This record gives sequence, structure tokens and C-alpha cells, in this order.
Amino acid sequence: MADASFVIETERLRLREHDPADAAAMASLFNDIEVVRGTLSVPFPYTFAHAREWIAGLRPKWIYEGKPTSFAVVLRDGGVLVGSAGLNVDAAHRRGELGYMYGRAHWGKGYATESCRALLRYGFETLRLHVVYASHWGWNGASARVLEKSGMRFEGVLREHGVRLGEVHDSVVYGMVAEEHEAMRRGAVDG
Ligand SMILES: CC(C)(COP(=O)(O)OP(=O)(O)OC[C@H]1O[C@@H](n2cnc3c(N)ncnc32)[C@H](O)[C@@H]1OP(=O)(O)O)[C@@H](O)C(=O)NCCC(=O)NCCS
Repeated sequence: MADASFVIETERLRLREHDPADAAAMASLFNDIEVVRGTLSVPFPYTFAHAREWIAGLRPKWIYEGKPTSFAVVLRDGGVLVGSAGLNVDAAHRRGELGYMYGRAHWGKGYATESCRALLRYGFETLRLHVVYASHWGWNGASARVLEKSGMRFEGVLREHGVRLGEVHDSVVYGMVAEEHEAMRRGAVDG
């Protein structure tokens, strides 16, 4: 399934297409209420069967113009799976919604931010999207920080926008348009 041409590499991480062999590691990372509660709809408990079915169903939804938009995030050093991240593309609007989840043992090491930056670059420079956005539940300060550190802008709060695990939550929306990404990249190169 994995195609070497669609591997995204960062300093410490490799983002590659999910492989059926990832299911066991995904179930072990994500069968954790502290991980699942931050997501929009990932089930809990999260079992091997959930992971296997999800990987099997990735195509064609998570392909845009022939390129994958959902990735397993693994350590370049050793290949250990630490999380999943992707851009859910709405082709009609050429926009992508960022989503991500990482195993709790791997939090606080900057991995989410490192892969978020890489996915923004992929979304704008490879997929040619004109906007990328993301939303997190109101209580999810860590996710807000990831989006801020990646250069995304706070756009607003959709009040009581979702029901997750039986509770109502605000959704906080962040976004970046292509021009902002280009300016950020230029600044990084010039500065
Ligand atoms: C949110 C999540 C992706 C963050 O992953 P991570 O790899 O730990 O993120 P990073 O290490 O890149 O950055 C986390 C930042 O949040 C900060 N942070 C952690 N907990 C926080 C909190 N409760 N409030 C505010 N900031 C917090 C960290 O200090 C760090 O910022 P810093 O570098 O300025 O110190 C991870 O916790 C996760 O997978 N959660 C479960 C799934 C989820 O919530 N997904 C997001 C869906 S929108």
C-alpha cells in the first residue's frame, strides 16, 4: 500500500500511508479514553477490528488527486508508530481539515507540531489547497497549542457545536490560507 513517493519526512518523523500491519499498534496506542476523547468520532473502546476496518476503508476517501491524505506517523529512527494524522480534503472547495491523534506515551515531544507543519506544507505545496483548517474541542489546550505553534490563526468558537461521549462541547476553529503559508515559508527562508 505504501508508496515511497508519498512519504513525507521531517527531522524526526516519517509520515507514510497506513498499512494493514499497523492495526495492532494503532489499537494499542488509541484504545485510551484520554486519546479518543479529543477526537471528533473515534470509537471507544478502540479495538484491533476498528483499526483494521478503518485502514481497509481508507481508499478512495483519503485520496485526493491520486495522492494520499491520511498518514501513519512513525519515528524515522526505528519506525515505531506514534500516531495518525491527515488532511480530510473537500475537493469541491479545495480545502482540507487537519486531524491527528498520538499515543499518550508520545505526547509532549513536539511530534504533533512537527507533523502538523509538514502536513500544512503538503496541503499547500503538493495538494495545492487554498485553505487548511482544524477544530478542537474547547477544553483541548494541547491541540490549540499545536495549531498555534504551526502558524495557524484562531478563527472563532462554534458554541456547543458537538456532542462527544455524552457531553456537549464548543468547537474552536483555526485556519491558514495559502498566502499565509507562503509568507510563513518565505519568512523562514529569508529570516
Ligand atoms: C493534542 C495532541 C495531538 C498533542 O500532541 P503532542 O505531540 O503532545 O503535541 P506537541 O508536543 O507538538 O505540543 C503540545 C503543546 O501543548 C502544550 N500543552 C499540553 N497540555 C496542555 C494543556 N492542557 N493546555 C495547554 N497547553 C498544553 C504543551 O506544553 C506543548 O506546548 P509547548 O511546546 O509550548 O510546551 C495529543 O495530546 C493527542 O493526540 N491528544 C488526543 C487526540 C486529540 O486530542 N487530537 C486532537 C484533535 S483536534
